[in-house]
Amino acid sequence: MTISRRTVMAAGAAGAVAAAAGAGPVFAADRTDHTDRWGGRPAREHFGTLPDGTRVDRWTVSAGGTRLAVLSYGGIVQSLEIPDRRGRYANVSLGFDNLQDYVADSPYFGAIIGRYGNRIAGGAFTLDGRTYQLPLNDGTNSLHGGDKGFDKRVWDVEPYAKGPDTGLTLRHVSADGEMGYPGTLRVRVDYVLTPRGDFRVHYAATTDRPTVVNLTNHTYFNLAGEGNGSILDHTLRIAASRYTPVDSTLIPTGELAPVAHTPFDFRGGKPIGRDIREAHPQVLFGRGYDHNFVLDKGLTDAPRHAVTVTEPVSGRVMEIATTEPGVQFYSGNFLDGTLAGTAGKVYRQGDGFCLETQHFPDSPNHPSFPSTVLRPGRTYRSTTVHSFAAR
Ligand code: BGC
Repeated sequence: MTISRRTVMAAGAAGAVAAAAGAGPVFAADRTDHTDRWGGRPAREHFGTLPDGTRVDRWTVSAGGTRLAVLSYGGIVQSLEIPDRRGRYANVSLGFDNLQDYVADSPYFGAIIGRYGNRIAGGAFTLDGRTYQLPLNDGTNSLHGGDKGFDKRVWDVEPYAKGPDTGLTLRHVSADGEMGYPGTLRVRVDYVLTPRGDFRVHYAATTDRPTVVNLTNHTYFNLAGEGNGSILDHTLRIAASRYTPVDSTLIPTGELAPVAHTPFDFRGGKPIGRDIREAHPQVLFGRGYDHNFVLDKGLTDAPRHAVTVTEPVSGRVMEIATTEPGVQFYSGNFLDGTLAGTAGKVYRQGDGFCLETQHFPDSPNHPSFPSTVLRPGRTYRSTTVHSFAAR
């Protein structure tokens, strides 16, 4: 971890202007022909260089009061600024202001997760009679696509424009056999901002051999602003009557258990911290919430409302709609005070939460769960929409 994150702001004229405008971290002036930060259209700037010499860009784009910064490395949402009820902006996504910290040790801050988001038991699955072995990077399981998943790849990024919408298109080709998965997977992720400031994420993928796919985004949110302490006072509502209980390694048992009369009942909305210290066996396994909720709306063609989160002090509200049948609610249990984020503040347990819209964990080993198999000739599609308001 670097301790000199503030010193990179020495900068030049462009830096001084951006710093005066309170625009956050300053990077080498290397802007393309575009206008953003925060004038509206996608703009690119140099963010850093990987140990192998690969250049990493930071793209900025804004619309409808939402300001987004994305890295070509991992497709990482590096910053997401939205206003509070008095119009004051804060970056509500946890992360770093420099590439080295992302490369050295990041718990997937802001990243695109693939080829398979969440855990696969024993890192193994059987498809069409053949068994595939994936890297074990989470005890006895494979997590988030293996030790070099999509979060650690450099994506091709270009501006996205369609009708009134603006944004970025990210592309990555995952080789046949990469991280043990069969088939060449061509992946496209669109990060779209609408005129009213919604942040829509569209995923699409095709393959040349049967494979499994479960893509998601791993942004950690704190609607009070990253580095502003705990998320336990945020109110969370999840439209899920059931969840998938797990074993001690966080692999689903296969049961779809009712949330009623458990700490997992967020149907009416409640502060995240209200029941997080209940000695329920599932809370103990997760060290808090780290569970997949079975959305009542199921798998849908168009995104349907799934989650509402409210931060009482700032008034910021985030609503999530998705086509996916599940959402992993993770309450930042493994943040342990060893990482300092973008604002230079240390992240401690419960200082951010993730809501990873996805198919259920370990689906390839649970025929009763909605299928994650993708075959040649078919296109995997998934959409998740984040809408913001301040009340
Ligand atoms: C998992 C957690 C894990 C975190 C990354 C989440 O998606 O559910 O168990 O610790 O990602 O560090």
